[in-house]
Amino acid sequence: MPSVVRVERTWEQAWHEALYGEGGFYRRPEGPAGHFATSAQGGAAELLAGALLELARRESLTTIVDVACGRGELLEALAEQADPSIRLVGTDVVDRPADLAQRVEWVRSPGGRHLPDLGSPTGALVLAHEWLDVVPCPVAEVDDDGTLREVHVGPSGAERLGPPLGDADLEWADAWWPAPREPGDRVEVGRTRDAAFAGLVEGVHSGLVVAVDYGHTRDDRPPAGSLVGYVDGAVCAPVPDGGCDLTAHVAMDSLRPDRLLTQREALRELGLDGARPPLDLARSDPAGYLAALARASQASALTSGSPGGFLWALRRVG
Ligand SMILES: C[S@@+](CC[C@H](N)C(=O)[O-])C[C@H]1O[C@@H](n2cnc3c(N)ncnc32)[C@H](O)[C@@H]1O
Repeated sequence: MPSVVRVERTWEQAWHEALYGEGGFYRRPEGPAGHFATSAQGGAAELLAGALLELARRESLTTIVDVACGRGELLEALAEQADPSIRLVGTDVVDRPADLAQRVEWVRSPGGRHLPDLGSPTGALVLAHEWLDVVPCPVAEVDDDGTLREVHVGPSGAERLGPPLGDADLEWADAWWPAPREPGDRVEVGRTRDAAFAGLVEGVHSGLVVAVDYGHTRDDRPPAGSLVGYVDGAVCAPVPDGGCDLTAHVAMDSLRPDRLLTQREALRELGLDGARPPLDLARSDPAGYLAALARASQASALTSGSPGGFLWALRRVG
């Protein structure tokens, strides 16, 4: 008898394979920056790097680890601004990019919820910028009888309801994504993201772990879920074939952070508010005025609209 080929899997399995399997989306040479812009790339990276250095200074932290750092775009900006005494480390699922600044250390990671040994750094500011939204999680949907079932998916993105959600996932859903739930409503079970964040915290000897992501809290979960695909700068249907990014917003409160604040609040605390430079400067120092204006407009882009609403989850270690 021919063996049966199982093409339909849970979203968690299919998602992991599509992003981190052999030939997975994030193993492509162009990296995430080839498909979408984040606050950790381009001109924004320069400002974010400055804010992180200010945070490290205030907390007396001397190592900065960028987890899920793409191809090291933010680390390049950090390398330009940071005092040579600051140690810089990056990790992502590919080998060290050839043109990365010499001073940046690199650790290759398996991907998804699994992290490499980061050497238990002491006095470290550990940033995970847009990591947890690409950590695959189970997706569940309420059936016509009101039962929460795991959603299975085939390679074309076609979905089918599978068995009722298992105990641990159901427990998470009841605790963090509460009813009422109508037939067709979805739950993106954040248990895998919680475990990934906890694993990151465990891998640090002392310092501050900061996860920054698109997120929600118990009061504003998206009833229909938030799983989408991204490719070439545009949203697309979530198809787990390795041809697009797959991302779902993160339940940031279930990470149990010490502090949870918006990016707007976090960056304002660190001195970035997007305020325009005084007009007097235009007369006394036109070039300085233009540079300050460009900086203010970049800061405003980071602290308003959708980036301003990103959530920063902070956990102190040691
Ligand atoms: C949305 S991109 C964000 C990249 C970068 N942090 C930024 O904000 O521009 C997600 C990145 O997470 C990386 N990633 C996913 N799981 C990882 C893991 N366990 N360890 C290291 N990197 C991981 C992916 O390879 C990808 O580069």
